[in-house]
Amino acid sequence: MESMVAVGTGSKQRLVFALNGERVELSGVDPSTTLLEFLRLQTPYKGAKLGCGEGGCGACVVLLSKYDAKSKQVEDLAISSCLTLLCSIDGCSVTTTEGLGNCRDGFHSIHGRFAGFHASQCGYCTPGMCMSLFSSLLNADKSHGPAPDPGFSKLTVSEAATAVVGNLCRCTGYRPIIDACKSFAQDVDMEDLGLNSFWKKGEVADVKKLPLYIPNKVCTFPYFLRNENKQMISISPNQPLMSTILSESKGSRTGQWFTPLSMVELLNVMEYAKEGRLVAGNTSSGIYKRMDYCDQYIDLTHVSELSEIKKDEYGIEFGAAVTISKVIDKLLEEEKVLGSERGLVFRKIAGHLSKVASKYVRNTASLGGNLIMAQRNGFASDIATILLGAGSSVKLQISSERLTLSLEEFLQKPPCSWNTILLSVCIPSCNPIEHITNGTINGIYPQESKLFFETYRAAPRPHGNAVAYLNAAFLLVASNDKLSGNVVVEHLQLAFGTCGSKHAVRATKLELFLLGKLLTPSVLLESMHLLREILAPDIGRSSFTYRLSLAAGFLFDFLHPLIKILDGPIRSMGHNVGCVDIESRLSCIDSDGNVHDSRNICQHELSSDLTNGITSGINSVHNHAEKLSVVSGRQIMDVKKDYYPIGLPTKKVGAEIQASGEALFVDDLPSPKDCLHGAFICSSKPLARVKKIELSTFSASKGSLALVSVKDIPKGGQNIGSQSIFGSEALFADVITEFVGQPLAVVVADRQKDACIAAENAMVCYDTENLEPPILSVEEAISRSSFFQPPAFFSPEHIGDFSKGMSEADHKIHSAEVEIGSQYYFYMETQTALAVPDEDNCMVVYSSTQVPETCQVVIAKCLGVPEHNVRVISRRVGGGFGGKAFRSVPVATACALAAHRLRRPVRMYLDRKADMMTVMGRHPMKVKYSVGFKDDGAVTALHVDVLIDAGISADVSPAFPLFIVETLKKYNWQALSFDIKVCKTNLLTKSAMRGRGNVQGSIIAETVIEHVASFLCMEPYDVRNKNLHTFETLKLFYRNSCGEPAEYTLPVVLDKLITSSCFHSRAETVRQFNRSNRWRKRGLSIVPTVHEVTVRPTPGKVSILNDGSVVVEVGGIELGQGLWTKVKQMAAFALGKLLNGTSKYLLERVRVVQADTLSLAQGGYTAGSTTSESSCEAVRLACNILVERLTPVMVKLQESMDIVSWDALILQAHLQSVNLSASTYWVPSPDSFQYLNFGAAASEVEVDLLTGATTILRTDITYDCGLSLNPAVDLGQIEGAFVQGVGFFMLEKHVTNSDGLVLSDGTWTYKIPTIDTIPRQFNVEVFSSGYHKNRVLSSKASGEPPLLLAASVHCAARQAIKEARKDLRAYNTSEVPPAIFRMDIPATMDVIKELCGLDNVESYLHNMVTQS
Ligand SMILES: Cc1cc2nc3c(=O)[nH]c(=O)nc-3n(C[C@H](O)[C@H](O)[C@H](O)COP(=O)(O)OP(=O)(O)OC[C@H]3O[C@@H](n4cnc5c(N)ncnc54)[C@H](O)[C@@H]3O)c2cc1C
Ligand code: FES
Ligand code: FES
Repeated sequence: MESMVAVGTGSKQRLVFALNGERVELSGVDPSTTLLEFLRLQTPYKGAKLGCGEGGCGACVVLLSKYDAKSKQVEDLAISSCLTLLCSIDGCSVTTTEGLGNCRDGFHSIHGRFAGFHASQCGYCTPGMCMSLFSSLLNADKSHGPAPDPGFSKLTVSEAATAVVGNLCRCTGYRPIIDACKSFAQDVDMEDLGLNSFWKKGEVADVKKLPLYIPNKVCTFPYFLRNENKQMISISPNQPLMSTILSESKGSRTGQWFTPLSMVELLNVMEYAKEGRLVAGNTSSGIYKRMDYCDQYIDLTHVSELSEIKKDEYGIEFGAAVTISKVIDKLLEEEKVLGSERGLVFRKIAGHLSKVASKYVRNTASLGGNLIMAQRNGFASDIATILLGAGSSVKLQISSERLTLSLEEFLQKPPCSWNTILLSVCIPSCNPIEHITNGTINGIYPQESKLFFETYRAAPRPHGNAVAYLNAAFLLVASNDKLSGNVVVEHLQLAFGTCGSKHAVRATKLELFLLGKLLTPSVLLESMHLLREILAPDIGRSSFTYRLSLAAGFLFDFLHPLIKILDGPIRSMGHNVGCVDIESRLSCIDSDGNVHDSRNICQHELSSDLTNGITSGINSVHNHAEKLSVVSGRQIMDVKKDYYPIGLPTKKVGAEIQASGEALFVDDLPSPKDCLHGAFICSSKPLARVKKIELSTFSASKGSLALVSVKDIPKGGQNIGSQSIFGSEALFADVITEFVGQPLAVVVADRQKDACIAAENAMVCYDTENLEPPILSVEEAISRSSFFQPPAFFSPEHIGDFSKGMSEADHKIHSAEVEIGSQYYFYMETQTALAVPDEDNCMVVYSSTQVPETCQVVIAKCLGVPEHNVRVISRRVGGGFGGKAFRSVPVATACALAAHRLRRPVRMYLDRKADMMTVMGRHPMKVKYSVGFKDDGAVTALHVDVLIDAGISADVSPAFPLFIVETLKKYNWQALSFDIKVCKTNLLTKSAMRGRGNVQGSIIAETVIEHVASFLCMEPYDVRNKNLHTFETLKLFYRNSCGEPAEYTLPVVLDKLITSSCFHSRAETVRQFNRSNRWRKRGLSIVPTVHEVTVRPTPGKVSILNDGSVVVEVGGIELGQGLWTKVKQMAAFALGKLLNGTSKYLLERVRVVQADTLSLAQGGYTAGSTTSESSCEAVRLACNILVERLTPVMVKLQESMDIVSWDALILQAHLQSVNLSASTYWVPSPDSFQYLNFGAAASEVEVDLLTGATTILRTDITYDCGLSLNPAVDLGQIEGAFVQGVGFFMLEKHVTNSDGLVLSDGTWTYKIPTIDTIPRQFNVEVFSSGYHKNRVLSSKASGEPPLLLAASVHCAARQAIKEARKDLRAYNTSEVPPAIFRMDIPATMDVIKELCGLDNVESYLHNMVTQS
């Protein structure tokens, strides 16, 4: 045990808490240790994962329980363990997913239901999801109200839908997760729950069939700890105790954690610990990631004054350490007391706060911490803005002085110093009106005045974990001008956040301008102009013009319903002083001046009725948007039993242990003795000589041990970090670094944290003398002829005669352009490997990889040893999507090299930032196209020029022209030509990502179709139809893969989809909607896919053990795509031939084991959607060999027995020394190694013209899986891929600077889809198109093609924008937006808003003013 240092009286030297019911007592704790670090490094509980370390993904969520001895209540909170400091949980209890249940003692019903609803694919997000749900269930069940029926909790469906709102999942597409959550809700309609393994289609959906949920089954706060805490309190009742945990954790380093209980103690501690860091929730560490050490922390959460909540007639005063969750609860509690009108301000603030971060952050994040960040760091705080809008004030303690300031004064002060303590925040109730502003006296406003208050935020995600582009809060006191009937502004508070200033500001000039004015269109228009002047550009904030347009939109949204002329008569302002919110104004008037009630509307019509020209964005905080509408879906599939148990929708192998946290990923493997940790030092220059790399002396003193670089490659080894058939790439820069992000060396240390800090602080000297400038764009690559040339067999062929086709065209479009951005993989488990030196110069490497064989080859080359010296093991991968293929190899190789050099095990787990800065995803592309077409929309010729940025290494980029053209050919262009250049640049290497090249090819095709449709003023649907292939033209375009005529199922797929989605009738409804709505427009689009895949040779090995259990090895890796599940079913099916009809029994006897390159050679790689089926086929053939060997034994036994059991058969075979292990290497025949997949999707979206936000109202997919090997697995692939595609097309902007440095380097800046951004209604049909003789048991691929269908969302958004631009053109402004426009990918909010008109509000008002 490390020695302890005690300072002062009342010091406490042990940290005591409970973990999964067990007592934990620690001393010598480094106070900077997070709870997650402790769990993962010092306990057997690996369920909580490190997904981001920023509070942005939810993978680390655990339950924190606190006991209040006074009330004898336990408070249970979901928290992000990556942000929570270990010392802060003293006296608390922590429950991880392992604490709920496990495979030995029984799983919890949450685990069981997640598995049974197919809600876990790779499983990396699942423990965090389970814990978020668990905390929601616990808290719901604590509420008053009647006990629910057995098996349910008190949770409601809408609460269930928000239980996991901030948790990210990259695999499932969320729909099944929502179903698993909903299954606990007392008000759920069981029939509405999606596909599951508890009941079959047609059977009664009954809660009794689900794993039984028993409320309060898990004791979250053990009794022994209650007693212990009681003792602590009784030792020092009300004494001025300085409760301190002090430790000397390592060598000369002393860590100190102070827990002052009162302000007196706090000031004492601050006097003593001048370097100490004040902490409340410590969630700011997710925002400002400090790559340094801090040894002194002062915990503010136990200072009684900072945790108090006081209420008086003016409002509520919250201690600064009160958490955001508690503030919400209190405000809502007060609102209930005051009633909805008088409690308006509190309700609005609470509603807005519930969109700040996520629940697991809000549960620890304090109000004060947020405001301090806003004041000191210019953090884009929502809270500062909305509290400013409400006229709040703060109390401060600066040294010994106390003062009260308005929030505005506080924010305007110079950044506050360390010794400024924010004591409390007072939120006025603004009721009665005279209390709005200091000193305003009763009666200053006319008696009939009314108060309006509204808050706004526009963020990439409406509900989950996304800082707003812009937030705002407006408070208005208004009265009626009896003479004119207009509204008069009596008082106004307009607060805008992060637009044109470092922190939230009041638009005082505008407030003064409006004061006393009658609200008319011209006044509003003038206000808009003034607003644009006031919010001056802020250096450093991106998308300024977009933010400005949001500000204008919000103000318009707030004020314009009060303008008489615009939207008909304003409603009567009444006679009593009171409060009215926008919602109630909406309930009274619409754009035609009709009165209607927004609350009496059916769900489908929700937006339409609310938005008759007068509401703002879905992301603005209106009550109608506050509740996340619940996602629902319908899944249709045919379960065929031809190859039983193949075809059954069985649940994923290992899903329960994934949920319970027992499934082991690479970083979960216990560290071997003396294990070291590595982190890359990366280049910050795109092209330079590396003169010197040095670790700071500081880092060296903190335990970093060595630098491993190119110099450490052993004799005979090569500087190689990865390779593909197109070439290899260096592991480390050798003399010259060629791109930003290139590994220069690995720094190795005892702890991962030390290695990362050392890498971050390493000093690298560069020199660029006499070097050519780097190539940093595709244009530069062209000018310097820097290309990767595809080999001949990877070069796609042109089709037909382009010139002839153009000459036959009635119309031509020349050189139209579109740009397609990159997309980062965002697998939840980042790149990781563990290398363990073995005897005789061998190396065992555990890698999270899709290409173990390539890892083996590259490591062997790097170390200069034969391949049989390198064993690469890969059990499961926490999401791959192509990113764990060639991009995983450098990490595995670097670990192996470091382990070789240091003769100790070395592991690396890239943190999210390192991963994002070194691993690129999709290839960005610049596209030009020229197309000729007839009057009826039939295309006669298409030419496409594509410039692909491949980055520095070949990887698989030379194959991209082929991949692009594979899907570009989806329509019959008659003649197709192209010039596709794969540019070599000094930028990060791009690699294959799910739908590689195909997704770009497909959207290029759709862009052309949309362009032709716009040109001809036709419906895109009709142009698509016109250009769909017949089988004859399909054959022309897809010579090797088109199959038989009956296999061309796209026309059937489309017919089915058009019927199931009610496409035509909904298209009419959309038209009607658009006619009657000004500020929201809808679009509906249907997109087909034709996707060629290639099947590769694959090995398989099946062994039957003595007891009849079966072990299977395959080349394919389980990435979450359900490969093991299908393989298991295949083994049971193929061996089951011996047993006539009892194959299902065999299913339980089969285990698929990890890939091991020395056990099964030629494993190849897992990619391209076909590895599951080829692994299945290899296993089927191996089983056939065993069946052949066992059949004579069976026949012999049957002579003496009526029924021969499997066990008896295997026993006898053993006795007869039958070889019960068989291996195969399946090679697909040359005429069947390629085939086409077909599917189609129809998506309906709604675009908010004030914010540019897009809501996907509904998506229907029909996808042909042939005879699905497992329809549940395929359904998961379809939904998951589609949602990943939504990210690509609509959300995920991957930003780099001009040198190629990745700026989207975390969950803050890179937004993948969340529960709130997926289709609100998500219907999928896994279409069973029957027999396909050349396929593996007639099955077809599902991994990638459905991703392409997300283009339907992009195309639907284009339709909506077209409608918006129609209105814009009617406004008669000087700049008329053309009807045909370019729409790049991704179409993020700001892009869409720009297309809808950044100044559409002003144009509208201008039109009104000039018309009147
Ligand atoms: C993933 C994520 C998403 C988020 N999204 C949003 C969002 O959408 N909108 C938004 O507004 N905010 C958002 N936040 C910010 C969040 O609200 C703040 O991180 C949180 O409120 C800070 O509280 P804390 O108790 O954790 O502060 P800490 O991290 O403990 O402290 C923050 C800073 O304030 C200092 N400090 C804390 N309390 C006091 C005090 N009483 N007196 C003096 N100094 C003090 C600390 O020394 C530190 O410098 C997000 C945060 C995360 C992690
Ligand atoms: S790892 Fe903690 S939220 Fe992502
Ligand atoms: S299952 Fe959710 S991230 Fe893989």
